[in-house]
Amino acid sequence: MKKTILTGLRPTGNLHLGHLFGAGKNYLAMQEDYEFFLEIADVQALTDNFHHPEKVRKNVLEITMDLLAIGLDPKKVHFFIQSRIPEIAELTVFYSNLVTVARLQRNPTVKTEILQKSELFGNHGESITYGFLGYPVSQAADITIFDGELVPVGDDQLPLLEQCREIVRKFNSIYGDILKEPEQVLSNTTRVKGLDGNEKMGKSLGNAIFLVDSEDVVKEKIMNAVTDPNKIRKDDPANPDICMVYYYHNLVNKGNIDTVCKECRNGTRGCVSCKKELIHAMNEFLKPIQERRKYYEENSSLVKQILEDGSLVAKKRAEVQMKRIKQAMQIDYDEK
Ligand code: TRP
Ligand code: SF4
Repeated sequence: MKKTILTGLRPTGNLHLGHLFGAGKNYLAMQEDYEFFLEIADVQALTDNFHHPEKVRKNVLEITMDLLAIGLDPKKVHFFIQSRIPEIAELTVFYSNLVTVARLQRNPTVKTEILQKSELFGNHGESITYGFLGYPVSQAADITIFDGELVPVGDDQLPLLEQCREIVRKFNSIYGDILKEPEQVLSNTTRVKGLDGNEKMGKSLGNAIFLVDSEDVVKEKIMNAVTDPNKIRKDDPANPDICMVYYYHNLVNKGNIDTVCKECRNGTRGCVSCKKELIHAMNEFLKPIQERRKYYEENSSLVKQILEDGSLVAKKRAEVQMKRIKQAMQIDYDEK
């Protein structure tokens, strides 16, 4: 039997190159060999977007189309919507007894996110909601309701996986050996830097190239990308290692990378033409992705069907697991 992979994405925006080269490539490789459940985590997105339900709603379809556009195959991957699986919410309630508030407050991912969201939660965290603090518990339910064995995540998510394993161990020590401890598969080992030279490309950092960016948007973004600041005239020699244009050439124009490097160093390449070449290469790179996406945009009922079908498979699987869990917890009244 194939091993089960589960991962999730919050539907809060479109995917960018960072997602593609980090998580996306990994998903593409893994869809071949595993039973792959891909959760569109709408309930989790609501924990910090509860006042913007329309944003979450819209992005469920958007992110699914992005994922299909990069080449994930709905015949191989079960795309499902978290809220379509009420067992996850139910299990979250059961797990909430197995974790202390203090432990959640010490979770490094939660801590970082609270700092980042101080505008939402207030500077001292006094307005942190119960739901937000508890989302690692809900994420543990996401994973274990499917008996998830492998979980592809970025390294920012490792504390959540650790928290999940702790809950599993606690559960098993009380109710019997029912749950599997999931393992992470690190999926963002290839980080993509931002247009501004930041180590990380991120939507909120405003330094991302999105998979849906039009030719004009790509052009504008690359024209404004950070280059070697010491290069003033077009025949000044420069250092490509501190230039973001060179950095992206290396991602999407690998065939010419040696020429770009040499000409930059010896001053026979001007930044404007170098950028133009990159703009062309980037748009060529994005084209097949956008063409596939366009197909799904024009057939949005197909995308909805993919989510319905995936959710049905996920629901069946969750029901089986819930039965085992309820038996173990002696709340299986319908069985007696
Ligand atoms: N917390 C993850 C993120 O923000 C998304 C997520 C939800 C997830 N449920 C999951 C990741 C289950 C792995 C497993 O990216
Ligand atoms: Fe960057 Fe190209 Fe200019 Fe060199 S020539 S600094 S690689 S944009």
